[in-house]
Amino acid sequence: MEIIHVSAECYPMAKVGGLGDVVGALPKYQKKLGHTTKVVMPMHHTQYLETHHWEVVCKSSFPFGDTYLDYTIIKEINPSQTFDLYCIDIFNLLDRPNVYGYKDDTERFLAFQLAFVHWIRQIDMLPDIVHVHDHHAGLIPFFMQHFLEYKRLQSIQTVLTIHNAEYQGCMNVNMVKYFFSWDTWKMGLLEWDFQINSLACAIKCVNKVTTVSNSYLQELFYNANGLEKLFQQEKNKCSGIINGIDYDTWNPQTDRFIKQFYHSRNFKKGKAINKDSICKQFSLDSTLPLFIFIGRLVKEKAADLLHILIPLAFETYGYCLNFLVLGNGDIEIENNLKNILPNHFGYYHSSIEYNEALSHQLYAGADFLFMPSRVEPCGLNQMYALRYGTIPIVRSIGGLKDTVIDFVEPNGFGICFNDANLKDMIDSIGRSLELYKNINTVNQIRKNMMTINYSWQKSAKEYIDLYDSIL
Ligand code: GLC
Repeated sequence: MEIIHVSAECYPMAKVGGLGDVVGALPKYQKKLGHTTKVVMPMHHTQYLETHHWEVVCKSSFPFGDTYLDYTIIKEINPSQTFDLYCIDIFNLLDRPNVYGYKDDTERFLAFQLAFVHWIRQIDMLPDIVHVHDHHAGLIPFFMQHFLEYKRLQSIQTVLTIHNAEYQGCMNVNMVKYFFSWDTWKMGLLEWDFQINSLACAIKCVNKVTTVSNSYLQELFYNANGLEKLFQQEKNKCSGIINGIDYDTWNPQTDRFIKQFYHSRNFKKGKAINKDSICKQFSLDSTLPLFIFIGRLVKEKAADLLHILIPLAFETYGYCLNFLVLGNGDIEIENNLKNILPNHFGYYHSSIEYNEALSHQLYAGADFLFMPSRVEPCGLNQMYALRYGTIPIVRSIGGLKDTVIDFVEPNGFGICFNDANLKDMIDSIGRSLELYKNINTVNQIRKNMMTINYSWQKSAKEYIDLYDSIL
């Protein structure tokens, strides 16, 4: 079958978080199962765009309010991924360096979605499935069904995957001024709480909704940033499919970013060399356990507590550990993390940036990965950590609950805690330090962890089964 994924991000063309990783990997694994897969995304002006080759496959324009917007569809020639990658360029709107964060994001993503449907209704062979990811592509199923001139698209089945229901793409109802020849009787499908809500609209219009873990889906029925009732109403079309990770990109045996390759049989030496290199680079003590936090510095990930937690850990347990933070996000959180540096120099470092290469080096060199998330639909970092023999310390929520078993349980390997509060976090660091004293147990856990299979193979197949059920 032919599947088109539509997303704001796709690694390595443009990635901000896990969404990019998933859309960069899932189509590849679906292709391995024998299907034709394509990804369509906005043409962000990234380094990848500049350093790869593209051909123009379509140039056209669509009505946008009282004007017309020109758009160009480009396709990567010899993509480094195995699937076809298409980008939509709209002059002055989509050709920007960042994926999000502009004042006119609402107009940008609306124009992206309108251009997408305008383009695909012209193509000869329609796909079997249009699979939209998160709210940035959430209005597409509505456009496909209720734009009067797009009747041809009504036969295509649609799937929505929710990577994060906190963000919903809300806009004023007067934004319908940009729609063209649509069935205004269907206004109700666009609305939630007197606004246009792109995510809610997608949930109502698609054939199937998936969330990136089953536990997260269960949480959404009672905690979904205002959409709880809708999830309850649409329960029957919702299911959870856990993400996988891309075993080509995340493999300590071949990872081009790390200092020393290793695998589950010689990880002791491999991890030690990688750890030394990281500790040298950031003036940390490599004889002590190395804890890392990697991710967006936002409240959802409980990053706002790190600048309190880290000094508290040193106060409680002494300088018997190193803590390294990598990520960017909320300016206040970034500043707080920078400000605590002088007091703990030699045991703490923060790299306030998005740095793909450094993240690989940290997974390879660290002892523990700390993920205290308040909300975690799936979480990929804990799975990367497993692959690199780095013990995950997680709050048992969403996908973290579905993928990490505490080491005291049968077949366990991680450290789990219940609440995103300082007490639970400090206790879990205490448990990790205790565990670390018994290096034989630690090594046994590492060895077991590295053989757990979280590759995309299984989940990619689950998506195919889901498509089959609606075709
Ligand atoms: C979002 C979620 C994260 C998930 C990722 C990929 O970033 O916050 O939990 O792993 O999407 O689905």
